[in-house]
Amino acid sequence: MSDAQEVPHIPVMLDEIVDYLAPRAGGRYLDGTLGLAGHSLGLLRASGGEAQLVCLDRDEQALALAQERLKEFPGRARTFHTAFSDFESALAEAGWDMLDGAVLDLGVSSLQLDEAERGFSFMADGPLDMRMDATSGMDSARVLVNRLHFDDLKQIIRDLGDEPLGGKIARAIVRVREQEEIRTTSRLAEIVAKAYPPDRRREARNHPATRTFMALRMAVNNELGEIKDFLERIVQYLKPGARLAVISFHSAEDRVVKEAFKHWAKGCRCPLEQQICTCDRAPLARILTKKPQLPTQLEMDRNPRSRSAKLRVAERLDKPGGETAKGGRS
Ligand SMILES: C[S@@+](CC[C@H](N)C(=O)[O-])C[C@H]1O[C@@H](n2cnc3c(N)ncnc32)[C@H](O)[C@@H]1O
Repeated sequence: MSDAQEVPHIPVMLDEIVDYLAPRAGGRYLDGTLGLAGHSLGLLRASGGEAQLVCLDRDEQALALAQERLKEFPGRARTFHTAFSDFESALAEAGWDMLDGAVLDLGVSSLQLDEAERGFSFMADGPLDMRMDATSGMDSARVLVNRLHFDDLKQIIRDLGDEPLGGKIARAIVRVREQEEIRTTSRLAEIVAKAYPPDRRREARNHPATRTFMALRMAVNNELGEIKDFLERIVQYLKPGARLAVISFHSAEDRVVKEAFKHWAKGCRCPLEQQICTCDRAPLARILTKKPQLPTQLEMDRNPRSRSAKLRVAERLDKPGGETAKGGRS
């Protein structure tokens, strides 16, 4: 059986990640989104099994499956059930203070989408949940859909889902929930589909609920907040020459990554949301992907999930505005 058949998730842009991170024996790498360990295993294999990894995931089920797969390299990868915004505690537990590279492969795995009970997908009926970590105390999609104020619901669907019909959909949800609690993925999908004018429904390339489900998932798991928190601090943990690679699947995520990298390349230490730099410091990193790198056509054909992927990579600089410590592995 091929790897793709054994595991319901094919790692996206794996060759590119391995090339950029160039993992070496003894090097210390962070995989902030372990999933089913596709990228971690790729890094370990490329290092001849000699790299060391700290791997994080919020999802206990993914962690358990990944741990099985990582047995191929005993003692090489330490796994932690935590959010990547909490990477410092995992590094502290591993006794690491600096990294030789890090990767984030954002969003959800095919495993999460395929399991009806997790409530991520309108393709299979399940409880309206969508929490990557059901132990975290975060509100489920059911809570958001049934309790949020109309304006907040509209904003989430419109802004996180890039859904121009956000207002119409939010209104339809509010109308239905006055009569009944919305409990399942299929009920929500039906409400959203009905809110779509028939001509838009016919013309839509995807199911009308696609954007609404993605928006809710991002809100439930505070996905943009997680990325911002991580990017605020991770650069200080990269050794000179170490690279951070981020794969995103959503324009808002990609924008956050792009802005953070620009910030680092300018040397600015001001908070990410501050528009005008007031610190005027030397660059912390250089950007290796002036434009986001996309998967090859071959990969997109083989793995349709990779189609919306965008990869951005930055490299920590050695001295202010200078070369990298390793002589610039560009
Ligand atoms: C796209 S999958 C990663 C797949 C993995 N790279 C592979 O090839 O098998 C994203 C994973 O990141 C996890 N995840 C998403 N956001 C997270 C966060 N803020 N902290 C920790 N894990 C997160 C999800 O639970 C999911 O398992």
